[in-house]
Amino acid sequence: MVGSARQYHITTFGCQMNKADSERMSGILDTMGLTWTDDPYAADVVLYNTCTIRDNAEQKVYSYLGRQAKRKHEKPDLTLIVAGCVAQQEGAALLRRVPELDLVMGPQHANRLQDLLEQVLDGNQVVATEAVEIMEDITKPRRDSDVTAWVNVIYGCNERCTYCVVPGVRGVEQSRTPEAIRAEMADLGRQGFKEVTLLGQNIDAYGRDLPGSTAEGRHQHTFTDLLYAVHDVPGIERIRFATSHPRYFTERLIRACAELPKVCEHFHIPFQSGDNDVLKAMARGYTHEKYRRIIETIRRYMPDAAISADAIVGFPGETEEQFQHTLDLVNDIAFDQLNTAAYSPRPGTPAALWENQLPEAVKAERLQRLNHLVAQKAAERSLRYQGRIEEVLVEAINPKDPTQVMGRTRGNRLTFFPGDFATLKGELVQVNITEVRPFSLTGEPLQALVAAG
Ligand code: SAH
Ligand code: SF4
Ligand code: F3S
Repeated sequence: MVGSARQYHITTFGCQMNKADSERMSGILDTMGLTWTDDPYAADVVLYNTCTIRDNAEQKVYSYLGRQAKRKHEKPDLTLIVAGCVAQQEGAALLRRVPELDLVMGPQHANRLQDLLEQVLDGNQVVATEAVEIMEDITKPRRDSDVTAWVNVIYGCNERCTYCVVPGVRGVEQSRTPEAIRAEMADLGRQGFKEVTLLGQNIDAYGRDLPGSTAEGRHQHTFTDLLYAVHDVPGIERIRFATSHPRYFTERLIRACAELPKVCEHFHIPFQSGDNDVLKAMARGYTHEKYRRIIETIRRYMPDAAISADAIVGFPGETEEQFQHTLDLVNDIAFDQLNTAAYSPRPGTPAALWENQLPEAVKAERLQRLNHLVAQKAAERSLRYQGRIEEVLVEAINPKDPTQVMGRTRGNRLTFFPGDFATLKGELVQVNITEVRPFSLTGEPLQALVAAG
């Protein structure tokens, strides 16, 4: 690689999948001898890892790209890269829109960044968006944290939700082998990481594309089997996973989570809508009754489990009464956290072509009502932590108060408490919760354990 002083910057939009991809691409650039800079306008290589889930996510990228394209006119050796889901969706059209771009690469090509950059250095403008079998990764990702890490388990999505771009941009499901996943986790354990979050768009659909089934005809490599296969990796003390699809969430999986001590009692299971006709139009493949049964079963095995989800308001044709069913579900289940969004019509998705689109004002008003209820419910859910002892894994210094450290409870609540980061980093500390807010907690560490730890 030319000139060892070349600096790169990556800005990441979108979901955990993109964050994990960015860490791997960053690792590749480090290996190539480039160095990281926080400043996108000082970098020689700028990579935007993009998201196209909603229109506003996509528009953000174009405004950043506009500024970088201008910069390239003064700095012709600037290498400009668009990766991720906008790259996949737009492909060569992006080059026409922003001719200053050097490389447009879809998410399935993240591990090929070095190869693609070499083609750019040979003087080519490169578009890599064809569907490929994702290579097992050999570079070391440059991880944001050295306590918690993402581990990809399954790429892609085989569902066809009528609003969603993901199957189009992330391709069909590709499961990594249990051996590769375990090996990556073991490596993380050796490096001192304490917590792993297993990642997939529909993680509970894991393994369907791997060969092999049991004598009873059940698939041998379900996500539940994977949990049993990796839960004892040395050094890793906590295991989380996201995202789960209600269609594949089994009682067997719930039992495994209850049984395996390292698996944290937090479940992220999007429901999208509380109305059966809307769910049907979305092609989600379950009813609100089934969703409620899943949550009841989780709470039967793990009464205190934290539950989070995603929901969409203002899907085409959604009536006030149907929206009310979403409010009912949120009210009844009392989520610890809920990501909410107004429906955004996306290119290439069936629902975008329907004529029963709702006015923006209606969507915005419903979103506001839903968010209000969510905050109220989260605040209520937080109250149960008051005065309790919670296990917190120390991840960082509280950016707002350097005399405090921060971490998460097993239920994924952000928690602050006084302490010295240098001694507590990566430790599991028992914390007495003294203050609760809707989405975070404050407490005091139990002295005995801190001294011992
Ligand atoms: N695979 C996961 C979610 C992936 S996308 C699942 O099926 O649950 C993350 C979230 O973005 C979705 O859960 C959904 O709530 C939201 N989303 C996806 N497409 C959207 C759209 N067109 N408009 C608004 N929100 C959308
Ligand atoms: Fe999108 Fe549906 Fe796949 Fe989730 S399951 S990524 S919402 S198509
Ligand atoms: Fe966005 Fe792609 Fe993730 S569209 S939400 S970055 S899969």
